[in-house]
Amino acid sequence: MRTGTGETAVPAELDMNRFAPTKAAGTRTVDEVTGSRRLRRMRKAAWSRRLVQENHLTVDDLIWPIFLVDGKNVREPIAAMPGVFRMSIDVAIREVERAAKLGIPAIATFPNVDLSLRDVTGSLILDPDNLTNRATRAIKAAVPEIGIITDAALDPFTSHGHDGVLRDGIIVNDETVEQVAAGAVLQAAAGADIIAPSDMMDGRIGVIRSALDDNGFQDVAIMSYATKFDSAFYGPYRDAIGTAGLLKGDKKTYYINAANSAEALRETEQDILEGTDMVMVKPGLPYLDIVRLLKDAFALPTFAYQVSGEYSMIQAAAANGWIDGERAMMESLLAFKRAGADGILTYFAPAVAEKLKG
Ligand code: PBG
Repeated sequence: MRTGTGETAVPAELDMNRFAPTKAAGTRTVDEVTGSRRLRRMRKAAWSRRLVQENHLTVDDLIWPIFLVDGKNVREPIAAMPGVFRMSIDVAIREVERAAKLGIPAIATFPNVDLSLRDVTGSLILDPDNLTNRATRAIKAAVPEIGIITDAALDPFTSHGHDGVLRDGIIVNDETVEQVAAGAVLQAAAGADIIAPSDMMDGRIGVIRSALDDNGFQDVAIMSYATKFDSAFYGPYRDAIGTAGLLKGDKKTYYINAANSAEALRETEQDILEGTDMVMVKPGLPYLDIVRLLKDAFALPTFAYQVSGEYSMIQAAAANGWIDGERAMMESLLAFKRAGADGILTYFAPAVAEKLKG
């Protein structure tokens, strides 16, 4: 130990080495190096590891994204997402009932609509009886205790798979925003508790907020996909909602460049100024730095989306016997908590809830 004057603060007669164990010479050498500060002391038993554990994953942290299709009694596997299914509304109701019983606070719905219903402007979002809205009404009626988050974006409804109105090769910002806001009002009218705009158009949060307010939905919250990055990890999702084969080009003109964090901060600040209640980072694990950045900068409820590609990587490696899938699932989710996330959208939600219960 040193004082400001550069002198040794501990008198020679109190030299800590006098108290060091003498029986094993090698051990003394280690203590001279560590100064007797041994971090392993607290790791030596289950009880002490529990006592000093800093972060915990609980069922309260989970949001379960589900995929919907038309029909009755449909439960279609998604090849790239083992364990995830496209469900018709009747099946979804049963699954959401199970999720609610497990204590999962909320679900997020994503529709896979018939190709014949998709068009260049994604006009199906303006249908009060589209798949999303029918599902919301049915699930709300059957399982009123679970929160419903709806995706306010055009990509499930456009014939080109983009998140906006496509005109002369350009995703038109303002027209898209107007349409998404009108769609959001219909989602709220159907019973959605939280509107989650995932399209990254400028100004969408403010316009959605005032559209909701104007229509009497002051209590409906907004979770902005504040920082949605242009990412390879969305691949399996695009299979799940049937946009993979449709999408021409990429989403670089509206999603954030994966290289940028200052821009992510400015994007989030903008959404907050426009009135978002919660923010989300997407994808998740490769962007934990952004989660921490937003939590520290804004202290808003902050969520992360462990996206389809992240899920598929864990499942694929586990299926090959290359990793312990269950441990990787739990560890990846705990990492979000450590980074400052208040919750995680994850396809693992029911499996995690079961595990936490058992
Ligand atoms: C687009 C949207 C995406 C996801 C949900 N909504 C990304 C995309 O297709 O570009 C990805 C979800 C996932 O990968 O799990 N509005």
